[in-house]
Amino acid sequence: MRIGGRHYQTIWLNADGWSVEIIDQTRLPHRFETVTLRSCEDAARAILTMQVRGAPLIGVTAAYGLCLGLREDASDEAMDRAIADLARQRPTAVNLRWALEEVRAAVRNLPREGRVEAAYRRTAELCRDDVETCRRIGAHGLDLIRSIAATKQPGVPVNVLTHCNAGWLACVDWGTATSPVYHAHDAGIPVHVWVDETRPRNQGAALTAYELGSHGVPHTIVVDNAGGHLMQSGKVDVCIVGTDRVTANGDVANKIGTYLKALAAEDNAVPFYVALPHSTIDWDLDDGLDIPIEERSADEVLKMPGRLPDGSVVTVEIAAPGSPAGNPAFDVTPARLVTGLLTERGLCPASREGLLSLYPERGR
Ligand code: MRU
Repeated sequence: MRIGGRHYQTIWLNADGWSVEIIDQTRLPHRFETVTLRSCEDAARAILTMQVRGAPLIGVTAAYGLCLGLREDASDEAMDRAIADLARQRPTAVNLRWALEEVRAAVRNLPREGRVEAAYRRTAELCRDDVETCRRIGAHGLDLIRSIAATKQPGVPVNVLTHCNAGWLACVDWGTATSPVYHAHDAGIPVHVWVDETRPRNQGAALTAYELGSHGVPHTIVVDNAGGHLMQSGKVDVCIVGTDRVTANGDVANKIGTYLKALAAEDNAVPFYVALPHSTIDWDLDDGLDIPIEERSADEVLKMPGRLPDGSVVTVEIAAPGSPAGNPAFDVTPARLVTGLLTERGLCPASREGLLSLYPERGR
């Protein structure tokens, strides 16, 4: 996507052919900086500290981390260690495990000498696949937005509400939940996005707003608790969110607060869609309540970073000194609250039957 007139993806291989460049998302929106990953440990740290975040992006970053690890030691034992180390950095998004297993499968039966090249090749494929997958999600989502636009007066925008950042910054390009928005905007359909700020880390206010603004998409940041009121007031036509893991029966894990938006949407008859790539489906899990929910540092709740008028970025305390805080990073929206799952293969009901209608090869 475009930043300052230049096209960027979130992760790329440097000209040396082996080190990996990422956009440091902990610096956005105040500074655009990139960071070079030169080892498996660098990749694991980038995932843990959320320099990279978003389910698809942490998947491909982990895959590159494995490539970097194999450069140092391509033995089976070292590969197992690297995979275990990378996978445990963030437990909820299944894409992380999926991408690592894809690379493992590509190199497992090769002699050590051939593993590094094969791992890089497979990871490059995963990146290309993610871009194309997200583009297709957007093309299907465009039909959805177009059909809503057809019910409105010409020129009146379609109001989309989204939570967290399921944009291009969370993927390699395009995004999942934002891809339909970009496609609609580029097709000349008036669209406006309500951006949930997404406490505690503010992925909405800091990242989604940054990318929508960079692309020229009209948007408004709202506090997380505003969604119910906006829906009640008829100001939301559709909710589109991303996800970190969808179970085989269509339950959806996503950033904490998503469930409350789905409840409000249900109560106000606002359609609630979840956009996802195939790599986010956990076919081994039936019940969303079995999804491991990452518990993050209390500091994320008790403190907040921000920019001062002199341009410096500082972190300040915002809570009563000494009070403890809990920080579950994700919640689970039951399938019954999801209007539809928007995938690269089209739209389906949030159910086992729905998913199998799009991915029949999984039923065998
Ligand atoms: O904690 P984060 O910022 O990694 O959480 C990201 C989300 O919850 C996204 O909505 C999800 O990963 C989907 S990204 C296409």
